[in-house]
Amino acid sequence: MNRYDDRDRDARVRDGAPVRELSGLKALVTGGASGIGLATARLLAARGADVAVLDLDPSAVPEPLRGYRADVTDDAMVRTAVDAVASDLAGLDIVVNNAGIGAVGTVEEGTDDQWHRVFDVNVMGMVRTSRAALPYLRASAHAALVHVCSIAATAGLPQRALYSASKGAVQSLTLAMAADHIREGIRVNCVNPGTADTPWVGRLLDQAADPAAERAALQARQPLGRLVSAGEVAAAIAYLASPAAASVTGTALAVDGGMQGLRLRPAER
Ligand SMILES: NC(=O)c1ccc[n+]([C@@H]2O[C@H](COP(=O)([O-])OP(=O)(O)OC[C@H]3O[C@@H](n4cnc5c(N)ncnc54)[C@H](O)[C@@H]3O)[C@@H](O)[C@H]2O)c1
Repeated sequence: MNRYDDRDRDARVRDGAPVRELSGLKALVTGGASGIGLATARLLAARGADVAVLDLDPSAVPEPLRGYRADVTDDAMVRTAVDAVASDLAGLDIVVNNAGIGAVGTVEEGTDDQWHRVFDVNVMGMVRTSRAALPYLRASAHAALVHVCSIAATAGLPQRALYSASKGAVQSLTLAMAADHIREGIRVNCVNPGTADTPWVGRLLDQAADPAAERAALQARQPLGRLVSAGEVAAAIAYLASPAAASVTGTALAVDGGMQGLRLRPAER
């Protein structure tokens, strides 16, 4: 059942009231206990949505977010959690497939088990969550899936063979799903962040021989000269998830400080 009421929203716009454009919509964010997922869950809630977070340990998610414990590599856990969310929130309109893990190395590094593990979380995790959510999304008048992909899907980055392969699969999955579900009224898009300042990147920097130099190198790689913030990625996700993007499906929105599209000359000193 969908509670989003365009007439109500239009009246509030005319009255000059603040618009909570996701008011009445029900959202689920995987990996929503940290980083980009947490920023997204908070923003969706601030814009009026009822928001559930699915994560390995959602015990610390702040109100008004509701936490649900599930590992996206476990199909039964995912189905149980998604059913519980749809029941507790009385429906589901927005699913943000964000849970993901990283991997460093060339194609010669990493065992078959590591390759299977990263694909299990980053690709199959989205498949499992989407599969469980689709019956509920079909009942929504404003259904949207947003996948958190990466600049690694579209640019060749050193030492990211496994991670990039998994995110390339996410971008292709986004397109195929957008085609499969468009006639059911379900939009499917992805965001492609550049390197974002999240706990994940903090962990990567901690492992570097010289964390300050590593951070400087990552900043310099992005034409804007700084890392992307989790809030900036969340804003792009919130747009793609909202009825304001009703004509947007099958697209990848880069939030990468210009890293994919720009070719700058070296800065003059
Ligand atoms: N940080 C970046 O630079 C960056 C850049 C591009 C894309 N991304 C993508 O953004 C997404 C979020 O990354 P982040 O930087 O916020 O990371 P993060 O580590 O801060 O948060 C990831 C969250 O996912 C959860 N998670 C991991 N495995 C899970 C599983 N099996 N089941 C359920 N939850 C699980 C973690 O518990 C954590 O809460 C990932 O898909 C990542 O690939 C990140």
